[in-house]
Amino acid sequence: MVSKPKAFVTKPLFPSVCALLEQHVDAEYWTEPDRIPRAELLCRIADKDALLCLPTDKIDDELLDAGPKLHLVATVSVGYDHVNLDACTKRGVIVTNTPGVLTDTTADLAFALLMAVARRLVEGDAWTRSGTWNGLAFDTFLGADVWGKTLGIIGFGRIGQEMARRAIGFKMRVLYSSRNRAPDAVESELRAEFATMDTVLRESDFVSLHVPLLPATRHLISAENLAKMKPAAFLINTTRGPVVDEAALVHALETATIAGAGLDVYEQEPKVHPGLLARKDVVLAPHIGSATVETRTAMARVAVENAVAFFAGKKPPNALNAPKA
Ligand code: DGY
Repeated sequence: MVSKPKAFVTKPLFPSVCALLEQHVDAEYWTEPDRIPRAELLCRIADKDALLCLPTDKIDDELLDAGPKLHLVATVSVGYDHVNLDACTKRGVIVTNTPGVLTDTTADLAFALLMAVARRLVEGDAWTRSGTWNGLAFDTFLGADVWGKTLGIIGFGRIGQEMARRAIGFKMRVLYSSRNRAPDAVESELRAEFATMDTVLRESDFVSLHVPLLPATRHLISAENLAKMKPAAFLINTTRGPVVDEAALVHALETATIAGAGLDVYEQEPKVHPGLLARKDVVLAPHIGSATVETRTAMARVAVENAVAFFAGKKPPNALNAPKA
């Protein structure tokens, strides 16, 4: 009997998805609640053909040295800044991700952060629970209107575009900046105006970030760019923490350069800059952009489908690199 390929999975991926995986590979899982320690991961992949991982697992030369039999790394995420793609390509390791299935859910969370920070929802919740609320007052918890304002979207890929679609319902003007201008049909359907990043920063009441983390986008939101925003504007980040210079953001909040921020991602997760923790004008989420039962199940399924295709000798649908010729 031909033995199945071996896979290591750094988190169990829902029973139905694991069942599908196990039809095709011998799967071994990290089942502890805390994430797998690095040394343990390096040990567990020594004899594995595939690794199904998360953005918290760094895929670099050290890991590839420890897993000399690896042919496939399937990350259960759309972002792959934790994967050294060049190192994988050089060794003939195929890398796949899970685009598409988390687009709407992540845009929902970005919009939820926007609403929460503008309408002071988290502050209001704490106040209501505190027992000190003494009834409706005319002038407390005054937030900022969302409807009719200008939403600036930096990065107009799938998630950025879905953010624009949500803004239509709030009668917002939408500006976007992007490496490539969207086709006319997309601009008119989403009522989105192409602009320079400077214009987006200067004219928007809400700036939402949707660029991937790349060398060129690290600290894209710098002190200089924060200074271009309106003092009444809010920054929303659901992409990757290092796109924002967190120290510069804290300074911008402390000096009232901007009015607030809604954040789902941080420069050094799970650490959050202490300057953000105490601020009432910031809503902080624990990297839950795609964290719904439906979406995480779909992401897991896509990762497994990539692995199944790969071991069936087919091109995985979401391959990010090509095998060496
Ligand atoms: C992603 O898919 O990249 C999200 O950050 C969730 O991990």
